[in-house]
Amino acid sequence: MATTRRHDVKDLSLAPEGVRRISWADRQMPVLAAIRERFAAEQPLSGYRISACLHVTTETANLMRTLKAGGADVVLCASNPLSTQDDVAAALVDEFDVSVFAIKGEDNDTYYQHIEAAVDHKPQLTMDDGADVINVLHSARREQLGDIIAGMEETTTGVIRLKAMEADGALAFPVIAVNEAQTKHLFDNRYGTGQSTIDGIMRATNVLLAGKRFVVAGYGWTGRGVALRARGMGAHVIITEVDPMRALEALMDGYEVMTMEEAARVGDIFCTATGDKHVIDRRHLESMKDGAILCNTGHFNVEINIPALRALATETREARQFVDEFTLADGRRLYLLAEGRLVNISAAEGHPAIVMDMSFANQALATEYAVQHATSLENKVYPVPVAIDEEIARLKLATMGVSIDQLTAEQAKYLASWDEGT
Ligand SMILES: NC(=O)c1ccc[n+]([C@@H]2O[C@H](COP(=O)([O-])OP(=O)(O)OC[C@H]3O[C@@H](n4cnc5c(N)ncnc54)[C@H](O)[C@@H]3O)[C@@H](O)[C@H]2O)c1
Repeated sequence: MATTRRHDVKDLSLAPEGVRRISWADRQMPVLAAIRERFAAEQPLSGYRISACLHVTTETANLMRTLKAGGADVVLCASNPLSTQDDVAAALVDEFDVSVFAIKGEDNDTYYQHIEAAVDHKPQLTMDDGADVINVLHSARREQLGDIIAGMEETTTGVIRLKAMEADGALAFPVIAVNEAQTKHLFDNRYGTGQSTIDGIMRATNVLLAGKRFVVAGYGWTGRGVALRARGMGAHVIITEVDPMRALEALMDGYEVMTMEEAARVGDIFCTATGDKHVIDRRHLESMKDGAILCNTGHFNVEINIPALRALATETREARQFVDEFTLADGRRLYLLAEGRLVNISAAEGHPAIVMDMSFANQALATEYAVQHATSLENKVYPVPVAIDEEIARLKLATMGVSIDQLTAEQAKYLASWDEGT
């Protein structure tokens, strides 16, 4: 299909492969497909302009199709310069009539120009993975703030930034924190990131994990998933934390817990998953073993102090795709994967579709909720309503062919009473 849509993608001739892969992912996304069918009939987003800044993957393509089916006019740009799947971007423009501004490997200037292009769409609704569109609207495009009904935020790091804006009284429209839905972070952050991060490390390096000392920084939802899967592959997993409760949990889950100072000296593979800055800092890099592999699966590429790594290196070269080798003055070599960006989306394909089905069902239903409640929402960060969360869990179980028990009337009464039940 020849397109008249505004776009900046790598190559429209990649569209047929993108269409094939989008439809493969769609088979694993039955909850979103059911929402799409309802949206097509009811048109809840009819006439609304949405600017979305998400990883341009097959799963995101199915979310874009769903919003469009609901009547929305959608523009998509990338939420990370390395995560775009160019065939998917081409397919969205050429086959599904969605404006896309995203090219894998785009430089920083192009990345921000693409966000500006998405904001040029004059959105009434925003959808972010890391709050970049919301940031542009609150800085360079303040004149557009009055048009916005609400925003949706996908990830932990974005939610942290938005809650800080709310606390400062700076947030100029309501935001729904999709990440806070249980059907999002319990599955996406834990199982999705867990599996796809290991996949990214293996695709980039082809190392054997069995027997390696695998250091995970941060034992939150994401870190728990990475640790669980690394252990499953036979690695000896070490956790570093700053929160005593999480550190204790990691210990009782059977992992070794130590400081990064100590872990730096013994680790073979390091993966940061904290949402924090310089978790692996210069002093840690200075004590690492020859051949240590470093990667990050947190949102921004600031978890490893990359400027310090560059400054320490006397020589740098690309050892293989997604692997940069840094030779230090004493001859030790450290390997950084995917430029310190999200390794699961840069070097692999990100989360499997079956998980993103729930995350993006939350995005679609939260958008519908925001439109329906536009007049009553204040300039705050809201959780996804529990009724939506529970409905998604119910639908997901049904699509997996799993039934669960129901409380009997007697049990419901018992659980709501002080009765000991003897
Ligand atoms: N790669 C992906 O696809 C993907 C998916 C979901 C979330 N994320 C990102 O992963 C990051 C973590 O998300 P989460 O949901 O696990 O958050 P979380 O808040 O559940 O966990 C973060 C953990 O890191 C710990 N931490 C903070 N600073 C630390 C430090 N200096 N050293 C050691 N531990 C430290 C915190 O105490 C916390 O336990 C965020 O940036 C989030 O946006 C990435």
